[in-house]
Amino acid sequence: MDKILLDDWHVVANSLDIVNGDKLATQLLGQDILIWRSKGEVHAWLDQCPHRGSKLSLGNVKGDDIVVCAYHGWQFNSKGRCIKMPAHPGKPISERARTTQFEVKEKYGLVWVCLGEPIDDIPEFYGVDNNYHLVITGPYEVYTSAPRAVENFLDLSHFPFIHAGYLGEEPYTEMDDYDVEVIDNEIHVTNATAYQPRANINSDEGVKVTYSYRVIRPLTVMLTKEPGTQGEKPSDLILMVNQPVQETRTIVWFVLAMNYGHDEPDKSFCDFQDTIFYQDKAVLESQRPQCLPLDPSAEQHQPADKSSNVYRRWLKEIGLSYGTS
Ligand code: FES
Ligand code: FE
Repeated sequence: MDKILLDDWHVVANSLDIVNGDKLATQLLGQDILIWRSKGEVHAWLDQCPHRGSKLSLGNVKGDDIVVCAYHGWQFNSKGRCIKMPAHPGKPISERARTTQFEVKEKYGLVWVCLGEPIDDIPEFYGVDNNYHLVITGPYEVYTSAPRAVENFLDLSHFPFIHAGYLGEEPYTEMDDYDVEVIDNEIHVTNATAYQPRANINSDEGVKVTYSYRVIRPLTVMLTKEPGTQGEKPSDLILMVNQPVQETRTIVWFVLAMNYGHDEPDKSFCDFQDTIFYQDKAVLESQRPQCLPLDPSAEQHQPADKSSNVYRRWLKEIGLSYGTS
């Protein structure tokens, strides 16, 4: 397993979906993970009972801060320590009877987990201030690798075809050149433009929109859309995080930040993003190989693919193997 992914932070849930006493089973990098909350605090454990390996998520959360295994009823406190073996009441319990726990934090309304030793903090959502309101969209489950999903997010030349009437339309298919640089271990894409008939939920006429991306981690990207609707600030900031569930199964999450439409219900933004994402999904799931090919001769390229080719080269340099071929 790639250390770079083990030591990175990955989103596994929307914070609102886990209230006190709630649990949720998910997967990260092929590992079964149990997410649960006790007294406001969220926990991320390996979803495997230390007794006989059954899934703890099949059990339940008792009295807000105890997880009970479904198989033989062992009870674990919020520190992961077994405090009760119903088959042997009153007998001392080994220190080793404890669950495997992972680092977990909450930020931007999402639950983030690191399976290894965190090298860094949760990615910074640059540029967000009080003028913006945040809306989480997703989870979008897609049967492809996370790098394929990232590359699709960086790709503008598909807009007039896959997102016709929204993010592009014929005959506005020609792509202007744009800039790509690797700066401090991030990929920066600037001055990428697209004519968009419906750039966001508020737009009622076509505009030329400038996209800037920052690929800040192998599976985390930030997008800025300009011009803004209020002065010189960008209208939309989007944080895309990809939960690598398995090598060819990904859950995509977006945190949208808008400096317009503050009175719009969140649902309007979610509906728009759902429409766009489900247009991408069929194409993404049809791509073969599902893992992103890093060998430049594996697929044919066009000049507009500059950002995706830099992304592929960068992944090769940092040695990412999970989700690549
Ligand atoms: Fe969990 Fe036996 S497998 S209590
Ligand atoms: Fe798309």
